[in-house]
Amino acid sequence: MKIRTIAIAAAILWALPALADEGMWLPALISERIADMQSKGLRLNAEDLYSVNNASLKDAIVLFGSGCTGELVSDEGLLFTNHHCGYGYIQKHSSVEHDYLKDGFWAMNRAQELPNPGLTVKFLDRMEDVTSEVFKGIKPKMSEEKRNALIKKNIDAIIKKAADQSKGLVAQVNALYYGNQYFLYVFREYRDVRLVGAPPSSIGKFGGETDNWMWPRHTGDFSIFRIYSDKDGNPADYSEDNIPYKPKKSFVVSTKGVKEGDFTFVYGCPGSTQEYVHSEAVRYIQDVSDPEKIALRTTRLGIMKKYMDQSQAVRIQYSSKYASVANAWKKWQGEEKGLRKNKVVPVKQAYEKSFEEWAQGSAYEGLTSRLANLYAARNPIYRAYEYYNETVRSIEKLRIVSGRPFDMKDYYRPIDEETFVAMTDAFDKALDDSYKPAFFLEKRAQYGSMKALKDAVFADDALAKELADALDGFYFENIVPKVRELDKSITLTYKEYMKGQMAFEPQKAFYPDANLTLRIAYGHVEGYRPADAVYYTPVSTLRGIIEKDNPEIFDYNIPQTLRDIYARGGYEDQPVCFLATNHTTGGNSGSPVLNADGQLIGINFDRVWEGTMSDLVYDPEICRNISLDVRYLLFVIQEIGHAGYLLDEMNLY
Ligand code: ARG
Ligand code: GLU
Repeated sequence: MKIRTIAIAAAILWALPALADEGMWLPALISERIADMQSKGLRLNAEDLYSVNNASLKDAIVLFGSGCTGELVSDEGLLFTNHHCGYGYIQKHSSVEHDYLKDGFWAMNRAQELPNPGLTVKFLDRMEDVTSEVFKGIKPKMSEEKRNALIKKNIDAIIKKAADQSKGLVAQVNALYYGNQYFLYVFREYRDVRLVGAPPSSIGKFGGETDNWMWPRHTGDFSIFRIYSDKDGNPADYSEDNIPYKPKKSFVVSTKGVKEGDFTFVYGCPGSTQEYVHSEAVRYIQDVSDPEKIALRTTRLGIMKKYMDQSQAVRIQYSSKYASVANAWKKWQGEEKGLRKNKVVPVKQAYEKSFEEWAQGSAYEGLTSRLANLYAARNPIYRAYEYYNETVRSIEKLRIVSGRPFDMKDYYRPIDEETFVAMTDAFDKALDDSYKPAFFLEKRAQYGSMKALKDAVFADDALAKELADALDGFYFENIVPKVRELDKSITLTYKEYMKGQMAFEPQKAFYPDANLTLRIAYGHVEGYRPADAVYYTPVSTLRGIIEKDNPEIFDYNIPQTLRDIYARGGYEDQPVCFLATNHTTGGNSGSPVLNADGQLIGINFDRVWEGTMSDLVYDPEICRNISLDVRYLLFVIQEIGHAGYLLDEMNLY
């Protein structure tokens, strides 16, 4: 009997670590996780990760631009992020004479570094729980309107008090757990960020769309920037007088590498997750939203590809657009598959059933059916909105005539004409006429087919503009407000349901959904089984790049220098990328991947597509983040960029 109890206790202890790789934790509350992190291998304390008074690792991390992460690697403001995060800036500096996208770019001294107007980086100065201040004056019986107005007023006051323009301090207040908790974030925002280096795309984007979201992966997905400040270290607009920013903290770059089983953590800015949603929300994504959007994008990508394959010029015009359409398209495929495989809908339904049994007679009773009803009302309307977005809004002609930002040098009319016919047709067939403006119905009757309507629209800008205005007007005036109204009720109900879930499972450690602010995810280096009888090991090498190398295939055509270096011998085992179990999402691109001592071992840039349902539910068996091994970055700087001087300012260990 006793032995059995011990065996069960041991089994439970054994089971816990596997579960615990899930989570994106708040740095300011990391003391609640630190014992678990240490038991798995971390050799640092909570104060080393996040401290208000002393320099800590958080001071070496930035939100890069509007949706990526970057990390400081020298005390002269040198910063690493992904190639795909720097892509737009590298492109802006590129021309036919200096094609930095194709050939790479390396500043050989400070004077050659290239400024990027509009690019900012934000350091987190501090974060603070301000829930009680946000709720100050709220009375239980208050109307929703009054309540919202007061919350807004309180938030504005908190922000005003915390922000300080003269020091470059910007503040924001974010709701966590659907408004059960509020945090103030104070950032220092730097505005002079210069491009220092980028590998050629044949390294930085090696594998292209073919390998995107996949393992085995061999992408050298990094670019290098430098932050500049005024002479006192404060944020300043670009000026020749600015000096390299001296950060409070920068990362030690480890050259020791990783192996299977090693503890790692990712410290960055995950954008958005929905871990606590109702089964109906998941069902909609799995059965409606993902499959329909995938099908629409398959059509669009097919049209683009047909013309891109015929012409080098068109390929250049559309490669960036193709990449962004393909990126979510591929992610959704993995997500849909993962949700089904994990039976997330029935598992959530069973959870909701036991939640309701527990909630009987309490304030939480009936919340799950209220949510189901709200989704039943919202889903058809939201579906129409998503359809409009994926079809009508993808037509460049309509974008151009309505004056939305568009670069005409990247326009190829045959692609757009074919897209118009395919997308308006899909929009028309999928949706009830009540989701279409009268003008559209009129023109449909008048021309008889979308092909005929297309001919008319492309021959007459006034007609194109009328059509665009009718569709946009209808959606923004009729559909979007309805979705917003329902979303407001859904969020309010989630606020109670979230509180209920926490009361229902008091032993469980909850983490708030991602919101593009700093989080810590931790796990270990590990491979995975993508399918029966297949195991993927977690480290890729230069050998694999040479195996994929093929001058005939654009995605796999590596620079000749790399072939020559490989031929010299000795580089077969040069590590390139590795897998780990860290729970990450979009926005984590460019995040520092750290070892047990907090040293930089990699740069996060992707997840495996079989595990992308981790935005809704994390499965430790299959959810993996993909990182660039920092040793490949060092190799590329030296051997391809011949910019080894950059290593002198790094703290290599
Ligand atoms: N999948 C990665 C992310 O979500 C990389 C995207 C850029 N690369 C690409 N081949 N499209 O951002
Ligand atoms: N590539 C993604 C990004 O840009 C990260 C991949 C993901 O985990 O979604 O943030």
